[in-house]
Amino acid sequence: LEQASRPSAIWLSFQECTGCTESLLRSHAPSIESLMFDFISLDYHHTLQAASGAAAERAREEAMHAHAGNYLVLVDGSIPRVKGYSTIAGISNLDMLRETAAGAAAILAVGTCSAYGGLPKAAPNPTQALSVAEVIDDRPIVNIPGCPPIPLAITGVIAYYLTMGALPPLDPLGRPLAFFGENIHDRCYRRPFYDRGLFAETFDDEGARKGWCLYKLGCKAPLTYNACAHVKWNQGVSFPIQSGHGCIGCSEPNFWDKGGIYESV
Ligand code: SF4
Ligand code: F3S
Repeated sequence: LEQASRPSAIWLSFQECTGCTESLLRSHAPSIESLMFDFISLDYHHTLQAASGAAAERAREEAMHAHAGNYLVLVDGSIPRVKGYSTIAGISNLDMLRETAAGAAAILAVGTCSAYGGLPKAAPNPTQALSVAEVIDDRPIVNIPGCPPIPLAITGVIAYYLTMGALPPLDPLGRPLAFFGENIHDRCYRRPFYDRGLFAETFDDEGARKGWCLYKLGCKAPLTYNACAHVKWNQGVSFPIQSGHGCIGCSEPNFWDKGGIYESV
């Protein structure tokens, strides 16, 4: 087993903010070190790889040829349809995704931008941003949305794939049920206040100080499916609602245009 080669993974970053990679780096089970040194061979990743320029592109091409049909592709960021908006080594994001996906066993769309278009797709969508599934229709795709996604959701899907040799069960939006099968509002520790009609009206009133429900401050968790309320962030320390701000629905399609940002209901 020690001699066994690790499955190749190619990570493509398109119209993104690097938040998804920042999130991945904070995974603790498995840790990013364990993931990279014990389980997968991360052969291409702009932010994490040592190589640059032509050497970096060569690494991507070599991984594609050496592992044709068997490598994983992970994508963060949306794909601009308008020419010239985002290129890597002179290759448009659209062409690079099509070329790399052609030999992939599966694609993980990491973050809301690659899963559904995300912030770049917000109105008026100047780049005509596309999600991975709007570009690729002949490969299995798992959406792992979130802005960014919970690190355990990223590494958990990879671990499932490596262990089971298949992709995990998905919901109708292509998300793994293990992480996106439950509504945050149903698992929120402030829910007893919601049920009793006790709401914070401003971010610094008595209700806010007492930890009452944030629904009247725009919390979108009743319409949001994610593991934030029970898996949480930073190794289970907290999540947005526990920090005093309502959920903005970041794991749902088109959340930027749905009024989740600092708008009261
Ligand atoms: Fe539901 Fe949000 Fe209120 Fe929690 S804070 S109970 S998720 S509306
Ligand atoms: Fe996003 Fe809401 Fe969780 S804003 S991080 S889905 S609590």
